[in-house]
Amino acid sequence: MLPAGMTEGSDQIGSRVVVVDDERNIRRTLSMVLEGEGYSVETFDSSEAFLPRLERGSVDVVLLDVRLPGLDGIATLAKVRETHADIPVIMISGHASLEEAVRAMTMGASDFMEKPLSRERVLVTVKNAIERRALSAKVRAFEATQEGDEEMLGESSAIQQIRDQIAKVAATGVRVLITGESGTGKELIARAIHRASKRANGPFVKVNCAAIPSELIESELFGHERGAFSGAVQKKRGRFELADGGTLFLDEIGDMSLDAQAAVLRVLQTGEVIRVGGEKVFMVDVRVVAATNKDLEEEVRNGSFREDLFFRLSVVPIHAPPLRDRGDDITLLIERFLGHFSREHGVEPTVSLTQEAKDAIRGYGFPGNVRELRNLAERLVILADNPVSLSDLPPAIAGADGRSRPPGLSDDRRHPSGRGIDLDRFDNLTLRDLREAVEREYILKKLEETGWNVTRTADMLGIERTNLHKKLKQLGLRKNVVTGGVIGAPSAPSANPAD
Ligand SMILES: Nc1ncnc2c1ncn2[C@@H]1O[C@H](COP(=O)(O)OP(=O)(O)OP(=O)(O)O)[C@@H](O)[C@H]1O
Ligand SMILES: [Mg+2]
Repeated sequence: MLPAGMTEGSDQIGSRVVVVDDERNIRRTLSMVLEGEGYSVETFDSSEAFLPRLERGSVDVVLLDVRLPGLDGIATLAKVRETHADIPVIMISGHASLEEAVRAMTMGASDFMEKPLSRERVLVTVKNAIERRALSAKVRAFEATQEGDEEMLGESSAIQQIRDQIAKVAATGVRVLITGESGTGKELIARAIHRASKRANGPFVKVNCAAIPSELIESELFGHERGAFSGAVQKKRGRFELADGGTLFLDEIGDMSLDAQAAVLRVLQTGEVIRVGGEKVFMVDVRVVAATNKDLEEEVRNGSFREDLFFRLSVVPIHAPPLRDRGDDITLLIERFLGHFSREHGVEPTVSLTQEAKDAIRGYGFPGNVRELRNLAERLVILADNPVSLSDLPPAIAGADGRSRPPGLSDDRRHPSGRGIDLDRFDNLTLRDLREAVEREYILKKLEETGWNVTRTADMLGIERTNLHKKLKQLGLRKNVVTGGVIGAPSAPSANPAD
């Protein structure tokens, strides 16, 4: 016979209940009732005795008497909420007082019981508190998977094709294997499949197979029972169980040990999970999406990946192409990310690129793919001038291919050393002063060429007119009133003695 409050396979069996009450009888009765239902119970006769116990962790619910010698229940509740807000606390009062009940509830008690306690009331209240806690943990986990969710950007035919594939596979429940270089958006694709599928309201659980030591992977995937191995002090649900009703994303599947591969294959064949060290069989309803940046077929050929598992996983393969093969997407992505990070970091106006910077970025190969481009955008928003010019870009992007050499440095003007600029002139300058000095000299030159036509100069420089005005002010440049015009002696902004 199963205990009244529990259903088969209930996760409440073994849950830890702590009882804090100064009346010995109450402690004894509650222990008996709860232990009889499969809970594990610890009792304390005062808050002072109980509070240090919290630091040892693994408490699922606390039953706390309101009237206690020493620190009373309400004050103790406040302390628990402060340090362990996720542990539900059920208040017990011998002197039914509505006021106390209301106070405790507003302070975050999860429930309130009056003495004398009935067995049924105790069991239901404890069960509900533990269930609610598990549920809010689930909600949090769900929200966490949403936070990283970003729109999949791009208009290239490669991305369009991927969107089509996602829509098609999402509608069915087939297993998908996503391949592609690092940073190409494999995880983004996996999440998009989940969101577009019937399982969207179920959990999306990710396992990074490369990050988990091979001796732990089975316990991670399938869970373990208490005492299954040294270190298994508590039973634990595996990721397959956690993903029940949702999607399990097996990332870096190519790094999974052969043992773990065999175990995963078994689950895929039977839909059954057995925790390490356990006997009970759990049926799980999980859609598996896997990803790898390895060539799995090659791994199969050289014997490090099981062929049968490969075929089970890659019912539908989706390949995420490298960014360099996605044409105009590079330009689209960098602009969207600059917009995104400008908003995120409160930078106004939105950071933009000069034409040269845009060309250089467009011509760069991005070995780290979208991740590298995204990181670049964030760095530029934080560190670079607006608009971003060639000199703000990392050398690998700015100047690798001659085509995007800084303007004004045509070959006939190159320093005999072969370097672009005669650097001897700039000795002893900080990088910032150097940049200002060069910028100043160059802007001045262009202004003179256009007869101080700001609009045309801004055009030539590839920046907005308003930005040029700002720069002129910053650099202390005004028509006919040019201060500190010697490179190496940049003027203080707005110090304008000749005025
Ligand atoms: N098409 C896209 N649009 C917008 N952002 C993208 C796109 N593709 C990738 N990203 C972003 O680039 C970063 C890397 O993507 P993701 O983690 O999905 O790559 P990955 O292929 O799983 O990389 P790895 O193999 O290194 O794990 C993430 O921040 C992701 O949001
Ligand atoms: Mg990834």
